[in-house]
Parts: sequence; C-alpha cells; structure tokens
Amino acid sequence: MSFDLVLFGGTGDLAWRKLLPALFQAFRHGSLPAGGRIIGVARDTLSDAQYRAFIRARFDQVDLAKRPSAEEFDHFAAMLAYVRMDLSQPADYAHLAQVLTQRQADTVVMYLATAPGLFTVVCEQLAAAGLNTERTRLVLEKPLGHDLASNRAINEAVRRALPEQQVFRIDHYLGKPSVQNLFALRFGNALFEPLWRREHIDHIQITIAEELGVERRGAFYDSTGALRDMVQNHALQLLCALAMEPPINAHADAIRDEKLKVLRSLQPWTPQTLAQHVIRGQYGAGRVGDETVPGYREEPGVAADSTTETFVALRAEIANWRWAGVPFYIRTGKRLAARDAHIVVNFRPAPHAIFDAPVGAANRLVIHLQPRDGLALHLMAQGQDNRHAARNAAHSLAPVQLDLDFDKRFGAERVGAYERLLLDVIDGRLNLFVRSDEQEAAWRWVEPLLHHWQGHESGLRTYAAGTWGPSASSAMIARDGHCWSEER
Ligand code: BG6
Repeated sequence: MSFDLVLFGGTGDLAWRKLLPALFQAFRHGSLPAGGRIIGVARDTLSDAQYRAFIRARFDQVDLAKRPSAEEFDHFAAMLAYVRMDLSQPADYAHLAQVLTQRQADTVVMYLATAPGLFTVVCEQLAAAGLNTERTRLVLEKPLGHDLASNRAINEAVRRALPEQQVFRIDHYLGKPSVQNLFALRFGNALFEPLWRREHIDHIQITIAEELGVERRGAFYDSTGALRDMVQNHALQLLCALAMEPPINAHADAIRDEKLKVLRSLQPWTPQTLAQHVIRGQYGAGRVGDETVPGYREEPGVAADSTTETFVALRAEIANWRWAGVPFYIRTGKRLAARDAHIVVNFRPAPHAIFDAPVGAANRLVIHLQPRDGLALHLMAQGQDNRHAARNAAHSLAPVQLDLDFDKRFGAERVGAYERLLLDVIDGRLNLFVRSDEQEAAWRWVEPLLHHWQGHESGLRTYAAGTWGPSASSAMIARDGHCWSEER
C-alpha cells in the first residue's frame, strides 16, 4: 500500500521531536509500509536534501532507543521530501496537489502539526484545491480550540472538508501501551467486570504528575493552562476508559459511543461543587530533584502577573446506574515531585471484619501508566510470622501486593504512542482517535470551570515546585475521608 504523509508544520517542534522520530521507529521496526513518502511542509525555502539535513541534525536531540547510523538514517530519509508553502495561499495548495497527483498514492495523510489557529484555513484550502478525496485522511493535533465554541467552529470547518470517518483527532494518551492495557484489562478479562461498579468500588483516583515545567512553551501554555492542556483531553479520556460500558465490539464507533455516554453522564457543575470540588494552583520557585527551578511567572513567555493554572485537582461524579455516588478524583500538574501517572481503583472494605486488619490498607488495584507500565493488586494476606496469630482467635493480616510489570513482561521497547497512532492513521484504524462529539462533550463539561475562574482569580493557589501541589488539594479529598495515593 503506498501512502503520502504530508506534515504541515514540518519544521516545527512536534514534527522533529515526536512525529518524525516515531515514523523512524516504525521504519526501523519494519512496520512502516514500503512505498511511502513523507512530505514536510513549512514556510522556509528548503530543498529535499536541506530538509533531510535539518531533521538529521535534530535527531541528535531526541530520545531514540538507539541512535541511527548514517546508513540507517539515509534509508529512512529517502522517503523524506519537502514542499514550501504559505498556508494562506491557494496557489501553494495547487502546487501541493500537483506534487501529490504525480504519484497517486493509495492513501494521503494530511497531518496538521501547526498552530490550531490555522486548522480552519487549511481545511478550507485543502477542499478548494480538491485535496479532500476519499483517499485523504486528516490528522488534527490538540488543542482543538480553547472552549466549546472554538472547538465547534474547527469541527464545522473539518466537517465541510471531510466526513468524520476520514478525520483522526489525536489524543496521544490513547496511543500509550499502558492505556491500551487498561482496555485489555477491562474488556479482555471477565475477572474484574462484576466488581467494576458502585456496589464494590469506593472511589477512583487518576494522577498525571509531571516534573517538567512549561519548558519552551511558556507563551502557548500561558494562554492554555492545565485544565485545557491535560484535563479536557488526556485525563477525561482515561476517565472514559475506566468508566465506559463494555462496547459491543472493537470497532471505532462502538468504543467511541460508549466513551461519549460517560462524558455526557458527568455530573454538571453547581455553584457548590465549583466552590468545593476544584482546586487550581500555580507553581512558585522550588527544588525538583537536585535542581533549583524558577516559579511559573519567571518562565520565558509567561506574563509576570499570570493567573494561569499549572495544577488542577477535581472531584467528578458520573450520574448513571453503574457509577452514581462514586467519586472520581483527578489531579494533574507541572513541576510536581515526580513524573508519575497512575490510576488507583479503591474497592470497598470487607463488609464484616473477622480479622484484625488495618482499615483501608488493601483492596485496591493500581494501574501504573508511566514511567513504569504495570498493574499492582493490593490484597490482605496472613503475615509470615503467624505463631502469635495461630494462638489468637482474631488473626492479624498484612497488606501484600501482586505486581505485574509490563515492561519486563513484554520488553521496555514497545511501540510508542505516536508510532502506534501514526501507523493506525496510515492503516485507517480509528479506534484510538477522538470523535468530534466526544470532544464537544468534554469541552461542555470543563467550560463552566473556565467561566467560574474568570471571576475568582483569588482561588489560584501557589505551590512550591517539587511538591504535590497546593495543600488544598489534599484537603479537598480529605473531606470525603480519603487521601491521595502515594503509589510509585
Ligand atoms: C501534552 C501536553 O499533551 O502532554 C504537555 O500539551 C504535556 O503539556 C504532555 O507535557 C504530557 O505527555 P506525556 O506523554 O509526557 O505524559
């Protein structure tokens, strides 16, 4: 199968940091279909050879499992071409159309790794140049808009250019092996399903903590914030994977229909929950590892009086039969104490105690997403030293855990998120991509928070870099009698 992959934003950070290294890995693993061409598109005037040299130089800065030899890179680079374009110029699209018609590839992927402000114009121009055929697949990177209205406007423009089944909206969390394992855990095994409901689950915690600050993206991040950057998409997609009903089959729409139902069942915000169930914070200076780091407002590109949140913790509820009354706590932030993403499913305690067991010490399933990828089931067991217990009618128990390390089991060098997603686009598999109605439902749910914050700047709390965020986030969860998990 031949393909042309047109990379709009071909010299940008996303292209050389993530997309081209992922395509290279796919090439190295032998999974990139032969007969492919990758066409970088940007404003600079470059020849194919100059573009290849540009990418080669940047490959030294990216995290590849093994550096490519000159020969290996040259093999890969034979696929790379470059087209200069000004994305507002119809003539440049006509030129692109010419380049593409010369070959008539079976599949033409248009990957918009550009500023989201350009999505609408690119869709219009692609359609005007006749580049929206049934062979076209359009890939859109987040953020798709900054609120519900702007998201809708983009999705409308996309819809005018191409039908939904040709549109691939990326949420790279869905491409992570650990997130696919979550689907496998729930829908490839019957073991947990009978327990996966309000009768047996007390509450669920989702943590996505980053050690990094805003890096070189200060200006972008300052107009975005953690709610739009992480909660509206990644965290809510994890919540969907945890809470959705088993789909009737593994087809994209069957899965996406179920995720959509979860998003639509999220309990709407009320003045009371807005005041009590959301905490937002911004990092001040502090220490991360051995390094002293500046506060958010000192970061390049960030306004000195910025009120953008770099941390969010919230409590959500899903109003349906399976989940009514079960809190889902989400927390995410930058410059936290560790890079650590995990989910904790806390089961209800045994209904009647016959042992002397520490309350709440076990009965939980921890799904580690990163940096390690694995599962740990925490149970109560009879401790080793049970001579005393043997003489004692009330046996004492100790917490133990069953630990499954997917990196050890399947090898740490598994297919990465972008590699997986790019191959899925080329093969036309939509399962791991987000449908427009899912995105809209997620925006609809987070938007009241954005409105509420506009009038309540004083609610922003400062936390020291290298900690777990504002103490109010612990207080929020403590009000329900819980505490944030310290799994790692
Ligand atoms: C991106 C956000 O979507 O996800 C970044 O824009 C964030 O701010 C990144 O750092 C986190 O991804 P990962 O895969 O490193 O957890």
